[in-house]
Amino acid sequence: MEQIEASAIGQAQTRCASMSRVELAKWSGALSFSDPQVVARYAQGPVRQVPGFHALQRMTALLLAEAVPGDGEVLVLGAGGGLELKVFAEAQPEWRFVGVDPSAEMLKLASETLGPLASRVDLCEGYIDTASVGPFDGATCLLTLHFLPAEERLRTLVELRRRLKPGAPLIVAHHSVPGDRKLQWLHRYAAFAVASGGIPAQDADKSVAALGSRLPMLSPEQDEALLREAGFETVELFFAAFTFKGWVAYNPS
Ligand SMILES: C[S@@+](CC[C@H](N)C(=O)[O-])C[C@H]1O[C@@H](n2cnc3c(N)ncnc32)[C@H](O)[C@@H]1O
Repeated sequence: MEQIEASAIGQAQTRCASMSRVELAKWSGALSFSDPQVVARYAQGPVRQVPGFHALQRMTALLLAEAVPGDGEVLVLGAGGGLELKVFAEAQPEWRFVGVDPSAEMLKLASETLGPLASRVDLCEGYIDTASVGPFDGATCLLTLHFLPAEERLRTLVELRRRLKPGAPLIVAHHSVPGDRKLQWLHRYAAFAVASGGIPAQDADKSVAALGSRLPMLSPEQDEALLREAGFETVELFFAAFTFKGWVAYNPS
C-alpha cells in the first residue's frame, strides 16, 4: 500500500493493515473522491445536499454515547473529509477513533478538518479490511454505503460487525429509496440541494440522472434486510430525510 504522506496525516497508522493499490481501486464509488476539485468543495457539499446533515451527525454521536464508554474507541468507515469525526471528537474528549477511507485526498482533508483533534484519530487509507480487528465500542458509516453494490455492502457490514464488541452499535445513513420510485425521490433530493445552493438549478436533471444510473441504491427494506443478514440485531430507523435514511443496529451481546 502506498502510505499517505506522513506530513499530511501527521501520525502513525498503528491500527491500519495494508492493502494493495489494485484492491483500493476496486470500488469505483470512491474514485471521484480522489479528484482534488471534488475534495476541495467537499466540506460545503453535504450540508447543502443532505437535509438535516448536522442533526444526523449529532444524533449519531448521541446514539454512540449510549453504548460507548468515556474512554472508548470508535471505528468510522468512510471517514473522508473528517466532518463526523470532528463532531464526535468534540462531543467526547476521551474517545479515540480509527477512520478508514480509500481516498488519500479525502483523508488529507480529514486531517486538516480535525486539526489538533487528529491526535486521537488513526486515519487509514483503504477499505474495511484496512481497519484493525478492534474490537471497537461502536462504529459508523455515514453517506458511504450507497456507493457499494449489495454484495460488497453485505461483506462490508459483516466485516464491520466482526470488529465490534458484543452489544456495540453500528450507525449507518445513506441514500435509500423504493426501487420503483427512485427517480421521484431523486428529484426531491435535487430540489432540496438546489434550494440550499448545493447544486446549480441547471445541473439538477443531470445530477438526478447520474445518481440514478451510478449509485447502487437499495430500498429501505433491502437495507434493513442486509443489516440483519450481516448478523446485526435490533435494527432501527432513526433518520429519514427525503432520499436519506439512517439506522442504528447492534452486534448481538
Ligand atoms: C460522501 S463521502 C462521506 C464522507 C463522510 N462520511 C461524511 O459524512 O462527510 C463518501 C466517502 O466514502 C468513501 N468511500 C467510498 N467507497 C468506500 C468504501 N467501500 N469503504 C469506505 N469508504 C468508502 C469515499 O472515499 C468518500 O470519502
